[in-house]
Amino acid sequence: MTRRYTPTRRRFLKAAVAVGGTAGLSACLDMTDEPVPEGVDDPSTLPARQHAWRESMATDEHGNPVLPRHHTFLYVDLDESGEPSDETRQRVEDALSLLDRAYERSSAGLLYSVGYTPAYFERYGTTPESVDLPAPRRLSDFEDPDFHTQDALLHLASDRADVVLEAEEALFGDGETANGIEAVAFPGTVEDRRTGFIGEGMPAERADEVDGIPEDADVPEAAKLFMGFNAGFRGNQATEAYVTIDDGPFAGGTTKHVVTLQQRLDRWYGDNDHDSMVKKLFSTRKVGDIEGVGANVGDDSGVVPEDFENLIEEANDHGAIGHAQKMAAANRDEEGNIRTVRRHVESTDSGVASLHFPSLQQEISTFEEIREAMNAADVVSETPAIRQRVNNGILRYIFVKDRGNFLVPSREQRALPRPDGSV
Ligand code: HEM
Repeated sequence: MTRRYTPTRRRFLKAAVAVGGTAGLSACLDMTDEPVPEGVDDPSTLPARQHAWRESMATDEHGNPVLPRHHTFLYVDLDESGEPSDETRQRVEDALSLLDRAYERSSAGLLYSVGYTPAYFERYGTTPESVDLPAPRRLSDFEDPDFHTQDALLHLASDRADVVLEAEEALFGDGETANGIEAVAFPGTVEDRRTGFIGEGMPAERADEVDGIPEDADVPEAAKLFMGFNAGFRGNQATEAYVTIDDGPFAGGTTKHVVTLQQRLDRWYGDNDHDSMVKKLFSTRKVGDIEGVGANVGDDSGVVPEDFENLIEEANDHGAIGHAQKMAAANRDEEGNIRTVRRHVESTDSGVASLHFPSLQQEISTFEEIREAMNAADVVSETPAIRQRVNNGILRYIFVKDRGNFLVPSREQRALPRPDGSV
């Protein structure tokens, strides 16, 4: 076993994000001295789409987007009940504008978005006009999730752990400043707080912190994710334009589904050798093509129509089917365009290896269709070797804990929009 135990600044920063609050923040600040790039004087000059992060993120040598390393998911309830007043709306706008003024909109500064739940729109007794935003629901027979019914999700992301913490403290805690600018309180309370991370070496570094990873499992040093493979290739992600709602009062926004999954990595590393992992994560037809964590994959997983045209035959021939292979058909439109932007990050919240999985699409039903394809019900009923959770992609290794659906409106509509889109 070659696990690296690094008592480094990075390990420390991750611990600080998990702790949160001023204790975590002051711990972080002690460790960091680089200045954080500043934001803009006029937030209206920033991109109109809150979800358009790509231009502000780094790319790797293949042009794949590189997500910021640290994430916080703040599930927030407004302090005011009923329909929000104009005063509360203005306070939300002021709090978000503080983030724009304090931090450059980039991975080096802060990327963020705010989204609103169907429960928020219930304050008006209705749903947002012309947006497919149902309440979250169970998406398989074998899950029993909790549902996010808070008003809003503020998703903060940065390469700097101290930035996500400081931003949270400035809006919801005792923080007095954000990057030197006076704090503005958000008129709400964080009811649920989750943290995430992604990046080469981060899962291996944290493998000893969590339950569910066996002693002899060797999360590769080069892996960005606990399961040991890269994901999120440019060729298998929709463009941000594609997932943008194009008509109606919320044109310019998008919908976001967030699921939290618990991972059973003891089983993953115990059941599978490298080829079997490639088969179950990617495709029966990719075995032998993917080296190590997938650094040779380039900018596309290489899952093509031949991988998914004859799923039942592939399953019969290989005794299993791949995760990406099962969903690829549902994740493409008639012209072959990819339909979702997936931005999942790992987590060690509560000492358990887990994954926060946000997916962006024009309509929540698109996500639900793709998730249904992951169940592969037709393959299960036709192929004895494939059961609901056995040999069926990675379903034996992931357990759904909670789900939430959100409308992420355009920047202009981000402060407590009414169902007709007015603010
Ligand atoms: C621990 C959990 C998960 C891991 C490690 C994981 C990993 C991967 C990997 C390695 C790929 C292939 C490379 C790529 O296209 O990025 C992939 C593709 C994909 N995954 Fe996941 N995934 C996880 C959970 C999920 C969940 C919960 C969904 C929900 C629907 C999902 C949806 C997809 C989709 C739509 C694709 C692309 C298929 C295509 O169009 O080619 N994944 N995932």
